Amino acid sequence: MAILDLIGSSPKFRAVLTDVERVAPVDSAVLIQGETGTGKEVIARAIHEASPRRNHRFVALNCAAIPSALLESELFGHERGAFTGACTQTKGRFQLADGGTLFLDEIGDMPLELQPKLLRALQEQEFERLGSAQTVRVNVRVVAATNQDLAELVTKKLFRIDLFYRLNVIPIFLPPLRERVQDIPLLTEFFVAKFAARLNKSIELVPDEVMAVLKAHDWPGNIRELQNFIERAVLFSPGSVLRLPLDLKQTVKQDPESGLRTLADADREHILETLNQTNWLIGGQDGAANRLGLPRTTLIYKMRKLGIETRRSVAARRIRPLANEACYAAASC
Ligand SMILES: Nc1ncnc2c1ncn2[C@@H]1O[C@H](COP(=O)(O)OP(=O)(O)OP(=O)(O)O)[C@@H](O)[C@H]1O
Ligand SMILES: [Mg+2]
Repeated sequence: MAILDLIGSSPKFRAVLTDVERVAPVDSAVLIQGETGTGKEVIARAIHEASPRRNHRFVALNCAAIPSALLESELFGHERGAFTGACTQTKGRFQLADGGTLFLDEIGDMPLELQPKLLRALQEQEFERLGSAQTVRVNVRVVAATNQDLAELVTKKLFRIDLFYRLNVIPIFLPPLRERVQDIPLLTEFFVAKFAARLNKSIELVPDEVMAVLKAHDWPGNIRELQNFIERAVLFSPGSVLRLPLDLKQTVKQDPESGLRTLADADREHILETLNQTNWLIGGQDGAANRLGLPRTTLIYKMRKLGIETRRSVAARRIRPLANEACYAAASC
């Protein structure tokens, strides 16, 4: 499978990638479930890219974004004159996805009255355009996604049980980010490199304490929230060391200072940035002490007091340029 931007090495994420490999070659329907921002759409694309259908289209339809009155025509198409405003014959998403994959996002929002027609299209691979008696035959693999509890919708009679079983042939569950904290450093590195390149900035280091804050956060918006946050952090970092915007710090559970930046914070960041510029050389003409206008011993004393190791900590994340995609190869499957 082509390497998509799928980052993660935690056991839970690896299990998802194994599922992707397993389901890609077959044509069975897949139902991807997971909280918002966990990567349901990227996993759906990964399944398509890893499947024999990869040279045909991946067509996505967000069932929640289309008014229910228009959804039938979006899915199955319509004939000219089928309804007011239907000026030309139009193909629906099922037909556009012929030979490829149709991704039905937010499937929990599919109106009940449309569900029997969808079920038939899934089972028989045939349907009629609105306003037409002619049957259209297709060859489409359906991948659906939802962040709702579909089984519960079935219990509440808001979702047909037969359609649920038809879609849920292969279920894939995407764990929330808080259950795969181990992926946060890799994802952070990836997003820092991505946004630094895009914003034309040079961020070379994510200090340990910044990473600790990121790992302690709950991330209710999951990977999307982390991504947006890193974009903002890259934008507001003045030098080559990633800094946390204050408002984010305030949202972090374990922040002891309730978001208030202390002098020690500022000192630590300034020293770390200078050390990074000198490649962690402390003494001598080109060393950090000289740049900071401090005697070498004073700088070492300050570093110890601020909890900065006198050699680059192995845990501090050096950011590699994005071009070096191989380091994210955990994503390849
Ligand atoms: N494993 C991953 N590696 C890198 N980026 C990822 C990963 N998973 C998700 N993303 C990124 O996170 C963002 C959210 O992913 P996606 O849109 O697939 O989530 P979703 O589960 O469909 O969210 P929603 O339920 O809100 O529609 C996207 O920008 C996507 O590129
Ligand atoms: Mg989505």
